[in-house]
Amino acid sequence: MVVPVLLGSVRSDRMGERVARWAVRQLDARGHEAVLIDPVALQLPLLDRMWKEIKSGPPPEHRQLYDTLKPLAELYARADGFCIVSGEYNHSIPPALSNLLDYFLEEYFWRPSAIVCYSATSFGGVRAAMQLRAMLAELGMPSIPSIQPIPAVGGALTSDGLPLTQQLAEKTGRFFEEFDWYMRAFQSERKQGRPY
Ligand SMILES: Cc1cc2nc3c(=O)[nH]c(=O)nc-3n(C[C@H](O)[C@H](O)[C@H](O)COP(=O)(O)O)c2cc1C
Repeated sequence: MVVPVLLGSVRSDRMGERVARWAVRQLDARGHEAVLIDPVALQLPLLDRMWKEIKSGPPPEHRQLYDTLKPLAELYARADGFCIVSGEYNHSIPPALSNLLDYFLEEYFWRPSAIVCYSATSFGGVRAAMQLRAMLAELGMPSIPSIQPIPAVGGALTSDGLPLTQQLAEKTGRFFEEFDWYMRAFQSERKQGRPY
């Protein structure tokens, strides 16, 4: 399965990168093609034009954005599911995640999403995850029932995304197994056609 892993934070000392690397490792280990989507590496500006507004021929001022978004659009077209990595800012979704998601819409349709959330506290980002669910449903990629919270993220993973806690290593199977099931189910239905 092809799984873009969307990383939703851009702070210079962000924890999200290690969480996203961990998610990529987990998906790779299950035989998937996991691709990290990093808004910092992409130098993604605050939203002005969505992909659908420039994809059929961008004016010169949007040429750079077109070149940034085109490979993403091609990847998303091949995607079987989306793994969304979200921190928690003020009990809600980091603005960088909203911004990254908002560039696309139809490209997400008919795929499941899986939420990996994290925070500095023991809540592990679950309050953001509950709000994220509503957004992902609106984007046409409903989230699977399980979420994967990572509490006290600073001590949970190395900068390369290797787990430092036994709990994290032990509790991931069900989440990723569930995601696999939903990706297979949606893939099978996409092959039968789409309502629109
Ligand atoms: C603007 C801001 C708001 C935050 N609000 C919360 C919060 O509501 N709940 C929480 O558990 N942690 C909160 N934190 C702490 C974050 O969980 C922690 O800094 C985490 O590492 C943020 O993700 P990032 O490092 O990838 O940016 C907040 C951090 C920031 C920068």
